[in-house]
Amino acid sequence: MCGIVAYVGNKQVVPLLLEGLKRLEYRGYDSAGVAVITSSGMKVQRAVGRVSVLESQIEKAPGFEGCTGIAHTRWATHGSPSVPNAHPHSHKTSDGYLVSLVHNGIIENYVSLRKWLEAKGHKFTSETDTEVIAVLIAEFYKGDLEAAVKAALREVTGAYAIAVICEREPHTLICARKGSPLIIGIADKSYVVASDASAIVSHTTQVITLDDYQVAKLCAGPNDKYNPVAEASGDTSGGGGPWKVDFKTTTIDDVPVTRDVQELEFDLAQIELGQFEHFMHKEIMEQPESIRTCLRGRIDLRDNRVVLGGLASFTRELVRARHFILTAQGTAFHAGLIGEYLLEDIAKVPARCHYASEFRYRNPIIEEGSITVAISQSGETADTLAALREAKDRGSLALGVVNVVGSSIARETDAGVYLHVGPEIGVASTKAFLGQVLVLTLISLYVGRRRYLSAEQLHNYLEELERLPDMVSKVLEQSDAIRTATEKCLDRNNWLFLGRGYHYPVAVEGALKLKELSYIHAEGMPAAEMKHGPIALIDKGMPVVFVATQGSQYDKVISNIEEVRARGGRVIAVATEGDTQITRYSESVFYVPHVSEALQPMLTVVPLQLVAYHAAVLRGHDVDKPRNLAKSVTVE
Ligand code: M6R
Repeated sequence: MCGIVAYVGNKQVVPLLLEGLKRLEYRGYDSAGVAVITSSGMKVQRAVGRVSVLESQIEKAPGFEGCTGIAHTRWATHGSPSVPNAHPHSHKTSDGYLVSLVHNGIIENYVSLRKWLEAKGHKFTSETDTEVIAVLIAEFYKGDLEAAVKAALREVTGAYAIAVICEREPHTLICARKGSPLIIGIADKSYVVASDASAIVSHTTQVITLDDYQVAKLCAGPNDKYNPVAEASGDTSGGGGPWKVDFKTTTIDDVPVTRDVQELEFDLAQIELGQFEHFMHKEIMEQPESIRTCLRGRIDLRDNRVVLGGLASFTRELVRARHFILTAQGTAFHAGLIGEYLLEDIAKVPARCHYASEFRYRNPIIEEGSITVAISQSGETADTLAALREAKDRGSLALGVVNVVGSSIARETDAGVYLHVGPEIGVASTKAFLGQVLVLTLISLYVGRRRYLSAEQLHNYLEELERLPDMVSKVLEQSDAIRTATEKCLDRNNWLFLGRGYHYPVAVEGALKLKELSYIHAEGMPAAEMKHGPIALIDKGMPVVFVATQGSQYDKVISNIEEVRARGGRVIAVATEGDTQITRYSESVFYVPHVSEALQPMLTVVPLQLVAYHAAVLRGHDVDKPRNLAKSVTVE
């Protein structure tokens, strides 16, 4: 995925665009660029690497004064990270005006469009799919940017969020979306457009969003020069006459649509580092608070019930469900694996979690009584969205367990439960994982109580959930000890993570965290599976992390630990407070408070998050922006 930010208004645009890009950098960070309409025409600067590289180039290149501009931070899909492939992409209209465009998404039919445009004499300068949109707009431009953008979008298939400007209309910004996110902020005398709220909140909390295939024309300029349809004045000064702002929204087929202005509920502190050096660390440490916000209003101890307003109108279907299909990718998939255990154990309904990327292509069987649950932090993951659509097409009720309010998955599900854990900026998912597991726990309790769970059993769970934030805080207190233990093992480039039952997905999640942040190879699997092959990897000093809390399979895990030790493996254990026996078998032990087995994953994952965090810091890696990754994967 990529980040886009754009502005039309009365302020100098470059500082504003760079600030926005820095906020959006977590969405992609291999190259960046800006285009600004200045008094001498369009100025474009693009750079490989971080936004800071672009910033220093612009500082050295004068003449970027102007009040209308677009900017982009890229995660390469088509074409390597290079200056020609970086956005904005620009192309000249037949009457010599430059059109510039930034894009997030994928244009699926770009090869045929490119051939068609090349046959008409257009020259391409990049390997990207995006450039065809810029060239199409220039091709269709007859003095009306909005009309040209719509004509271009009618030709493309795929996903897009775009922002477009043209030298000939210096006070106009056109944006549109299909599939990829885009928010329009209405600020004082200006509009600011971005891929997500983090680049908007410092300017305004008044926003509109577009639905798929919708286009917004945003104009802001001095009244005496204001002619948003065909301005050739070249006046970009932002002075002269009363300021006029104006927006209109239509479909790409030119049908007018009304979009309501909404108030963004967003606290700037949520996207600031504050006292922390890294967002990942901040997000790990704020998990007690994010559990509280996720639980707020959802557990009612007095009436002994779980309140899930988003699911209330589907309670009947939930109680009669014959099969839950959970679908997700990455860390969200691991939350879904825990969801399998929760739904079967607590709600007594069969449940299976599928990689969304596999599910959508396997001709899945959706029978009467199947409920599909799409799990996603961003709500934009392409595979998860596609799996959700596939399940819906086959008649399944579709629920969402999503963090980002108003995201594509949230909008396309029949109902759902938001995580409400606040924005997650670090590319490695931590507090969202906890939120996903917590929401799946609540859904299991909600359904379970209406099936076989007794009032007393529910009460016990609710009491424990209420104490969960404090329990997580106790685990977090061990951060320094976890750092020391991690440091001792950093000489090794292969690690194993093992667990049984509820802790098998925790082990897999621990391995993913370590590999994506520290670039250490790690495997996570059910502890018993080790004997069926992976045991061959174990040699003297190999770090093996066991989730070994007291529960139904504790003794079996201890046997697995013995097997590792017998081969010289170095054991790191996550154990239950008060377990003194485990120290005999382990080089390092991290403790979690005692809680019901079903709730343990929300505690046992925390030390593993810290292991990965400290490993990355100790190895000198960019914790919040690990190499080759982006926060959400909006391509298949
Ligand atoms: O936004 P989503 O939850 O749908 O994202 C799914 C995965 O891409 C994501 O969890 C990814 O695996 C993270 N890098 C894990 O830390």
